[in-house]
Amino acid sequence: MIVQSLLQAGTDTSSSTIEWAMALLLNNPHVLAKAKEEIDAVVGTSRLLEEHDLACLPYLRCIITETLRMYPIAPHLAPHQASSDCVVAGGQYIIACGTMVLVDVYSMQRDPTMWDEPNRFIPERFEVGIGEDGDKQVVRMMPFGMGRRKCPGEGLAWRTVGVALGLMVQCFRWERMGKEEVDMSEGSGFTMPMVVPLVAMCQPREEMDEILKRI
Ligand code: HEM
Repeated sequence: MIVQSLLQAGTDTSSSTIEWAMALLLNNPHVLAKAKEEIDAVVGTSRLLEEHDLACLPYLRCIITETLRMYPIAPHLAPHQASSDCVVAGGQYIIACGTMVLVDVYSMQRDPTMWDEPNRFIPERFEVGIGEDGDKQVVRMMPFGMGRRKCPGEGLAWRTVGVALGLMVQCFRWERMGKEEVDMSEGSGFTMPMVVPLVAMCQPREEMDEILKRI
């Protein structure tokens, strides 16, 4: 039962986040190029990127954070039920015991009063030391929920998404299928899939040929 829950909660969430991230990179080739530059400088092309490299790849982390901001996989988290009467914002709101609560993370993370150009993909907004400190901005987000029932797989998700996306950027040249931008329409449901599943062209990078042949 526990393993089933982990698989159910951990697979689509991580794979859809990778899909949204790759779609954003294809629509923003300058970001893709910058991510490749960072990986080439830190990891190089004589070995594959590994989990321990992630700590030295801050721009890749910014890309994943910005993806989770724009396309949180659970846009309303999971439904929660208030177990007692709650007073929120100094009495502005009273949530009665038993009320079903849905948190609109999607709108919070695109709120124009909280974010500059909320509908633009700008991973740099999370860089430490640029403008308002990037680290502080992360506090305004909750793609994994918050509190006692927040996602217990967050640490694993960061590592899985980081290694998978990082390897895709390190090993392959990526291009869109045509001149058109990738369709970023959002599907509905408990999780938020792409309406049009991502299709892209990729080719092994020559520099990575030797390594890829050995796999
Ligand atoms: C990018 C990847 C992921 C995202 C965005 C994500 C997000 C979330 C969110 C928003 C919730 C609901 C939190 C709430 O209602 O307050 C949740 C719950 C949960 N997640 Fe994740 N998750 C991800 C990956 C994973 C992974 C890899 C695992 C484990 C292998 C996992 C296991 C769970 C479990 C078991 C719950 C239910 C927790 C509970 O009800 O107490 N998740 N996740």
